[in-house]
Amino acid sequence: MKKKFIIIANWKMYPRSAKEAKVSFLELAKKTGFPRHVKVVIAPPFPYLAFFRKNRTLALGAQDIFYEPKGAFTGDVSGPMIKSLGADYVIVGHSERRKFAGETDAIVNKKLKQALRSGLRPILCIGETDRDVDGIFFGVLKKQIENAFNKVKSSDARRVIVAYEPVWAIGTGRPAMPRDANEAALFIKKVLAARYGVSFAKRVQVIYGGSVDAKIAETFLREQEISGLLVGGASLNPRSFLNIVQCAASVS
Ligand code: PGA
Repeated sequence: MKKKFIIIANWKMYPRSAKEAKVSFLELAKKTGFPRHVKVVIAPPFPYLAFFRKNRTLALGAQDIFYEPKGAFTGDVSGPMIKSLGADYVIVGHSERRKFAGETDAIVNKKLKQALRSGLRPILCIGETDRDVDGIFFGVLKKQIENAFNKVKSSDARRVIVAYEPVWAIGTGRPAMPRDANEAALFIKKVLAARYGVSFAKRVQVIYGGSVDAKIAETFLREQEISGLLVGGASLNPRSFLNIVQCAASVS
């Protein structure tokens, strides 16, 4: 059976204007015919999400969600709002939100649950800040997973995609070694197997993110436990992002 891939563009706080965002999106949208085993998701900043339309080839995602569905929460954006714009995915717990917006594991857990309640598929980001030779970072990953999935039942948990994003690899031009990412993905599945069972863990999609570009995308996708990529910098140029998608299309 062909492995199913998901390739996600995380535009972060780019591009500078709505006009530029439209140009990039149209360039992606006019490319059709990605193979069926490759799902492509564009996660732009909130204001741009409002005028992007999903199509047969491209799905939409948000980069964050608030943990309440409505209310007096100035500046926040709810799950139902995101859903109503046609998005089906939302990134939760990205390390930049953990760092710059002070998101704790407890907040990430609340956001994950709210995303699920809103009918969105969460892309849960976890990752260690430092990779130590003694492997202490595995404990960090375990704790992040256990806290994020706290009180999430398995019928909901199966809609979560886990992105292994070592913080030291994000935006640094220093990606993880594909085999190390594969080992981390396997570890993530083991932690999930302990909680939800082996057959659950076999089905969960674990993806990698951190300094991926078109040159190295394939080496990650060829790793057994890795089912896709979360791409930051290299997703801002439609051509380089499409090259990454093409890698997934050609890996079987
Ligand atoms: P990067 O970002 O590809 O620019 O390293 C990845 C991410 O933060 O999701």
